[in-house]
Amino acid sequence: MDKKWWKESVVYQIYPSSFMDSNGDGIGDLRGIISKLDYLKTLGADVIWLCPVYESPNDDNGYDISNYQSIMDSFGTMRDWEELLDGLHTRGMKLIMDLVVNHSSDEHHWFVESRKSKDNPYRDYYIWHPGKEGEAPNDWGSFFSGPAWEYDDATGEYYLHMFSKKQPDLNWENPKVRREVYDMMTWWLDKGIDGFRMDVINMISKPPGLPDGADGGTCINGPRVHEFLQEMNREVLSKYDIMTVGETLDVTPEDAALFAGTDRGELSMVFQFELMGIDSGSDGKWWGKPWKLTDFKQIFSKWQTDLEGKAWNSIYLNNHDQPRLVSRFGNDREYRNVSAKMLATLLHTLQGTPYIYQGEEIGMTNVRFKTIDEYRDIETLNMYKEYLEKGRTPEEIMEAIYAKGRDNARTPMQWNGSSPHAGFTTGTPWLAINPNYQDINVEQALADDNSIFHYYRQLIELRKQHEVIVYGRYELINADDEQVYAYTRTLGQEQLLVVLNFYDQPTRFDWTTPEASPILSEKTQAAKLLIVNYDDVPADADVRSMDLRPYEARVYKLS
Ligand code: NOJ
Repeated sequence: MDKKWWKESVVYQIYPSSFMDSNGDGIGDLRGIISKLDYLKTLGADVIWLCPVYESPNDDNGYDISNYQSIMDSFGTMRDWEELLDGLHTRGMKLIMDLVVNHSSDEHHWFVESRKSKDNPYRDYYIWHPGKEGEAPNDWGSFFSGPAWEYDDATGEYYLHMFSKKQPDLNWENPKVRREVYDMMTWWLDKGIDGFRMDVINMISKPPGLPDGADGGTCINGPRVHEFLQEMNREVLSKYDIMTVGETLDVTPEDAALFAGTDRGELSMVFQFELMGIDSGSDGKWWGKPWKLTDFKQIFSKWQTDLEGKAWNSIYLNNHDQPRLVSRFGNDREYRNVSAKMLATLLHTLQGTPYIYQGEEIGMTNVRFKTIDEYRDIETLNMYKEYLEKGRTPEEIMEAIYAKGRDNARTPMQWNGSSPHAGFTTGTPWLAINPNYQDINVEQALADDNSIFHYYRQLIELRKQHEVIVYGRYELINADDEQVYAYTRTLGQEQLLVVLNFYDQPTRFDWTTPEASPILSEKTQAAKLLIVNYDDVPADADVRSMDLRPYEARVYKLS
């Protein structure tokens, strides 16, 4: 068993513009985060992943960086950032920064130079191409609607942008670009950070000849991606005791074992998207289909089993690009409290490092703003225009946004129920607060022993007490059951049993199935309940047959 601090850690993701505003300009900032460090410590988070705070024109909320080594004015100064890092380290916590190097902003000085002339020394920092018979060089689409190529008058060529046209893709074929990136990473590591989350890192190697025939998917897992990451590891990462997590679109467990395999010299772990696609339809994420628990279990089980002993999982159920987990996989109305806790139980008891996205720990929900004008996310705004043109009605499109829009996760943190704007800002928030803040907020959660917050806290504590929760092998018990998800975790003599009712109907869970009985038979007598998401303890005497209440979650220690 290869023990690592980052396997034993729980990561908490901060989306800075929506976390806490200290100066009343309506935008969250570093001093706001500093003021909440004790809150994060109380929760028990070990590592903070800070979404981009670098200088940026903010076309994609900081994922378009114009200077990698300075802090965006609206977030504060480098001094503030240093104080944040110190504040975390003093409390025994760590900090990982977002590394966005598939693309930069078009306002980065490299691009400003690059677009000036074909012989500019920075020309090859980006991907320029002449058109093909007056059209773009190929038929790739950008992830944010429209073509992935933008024509630039100054030199009469097109540049590639897999995201917005203000996010030109960097040319990783150019060794100078790679050197600049490695130097910049070294500079941050020498300031004392504890690792990186790497934005769309499996898109950095583009297919040779940039062939026609598909959308941006063609750039995924390009031919040189492992070579580049191994070089990055040799030149930079291997010199520090850090963690790295790659955001990798469209990967299978086999791919993940290449990016994060123990002996591969690349990354610590990756984010996979298979679960996030579970409710996508044939036309992508916006026009979805209902998800099924059997598929949900199959996906997690495959990742748990296929990576066992080969690579480490990252476990997340939402982030700043996804809808809120309780609205998507739980019940954000009558059963918000228990269903959020049930999902939290899953998050913390699979094998892998759990990632909590800000607000998840108090059960924040999706939002339904009345009109498109209240939305800020570039992907959402572009998609609205695109589908209006394609003939969808505004009502249909708004429903899709309510279900999948990224602003669901980006509404500001709800700190209390009594101040205007939930205590997030004294000014006007850049994105409106979810109107449910009077019921759902941190102040209420801290005061209520039965809150989702305290349940997260207990789960994090449990993880620290029981090594089996971190390192134990996973085994699914009931693949075919459409209502209950049950599995064991085993480490040497220690064994845990996790049982989760995913629906609002009570159910009897009998698990004297052929798969289950050999795993458990002799151990069930000694079962000890470690945690349950209801305030009264279940009455069942024998864990082989349980009466589960709506969304009930239980974790037993069997031996
Ligand atoms: C993935 C990030 O998580 C998302 O927020 C961003 O829009 C794209 N990458 C482009 O950087």
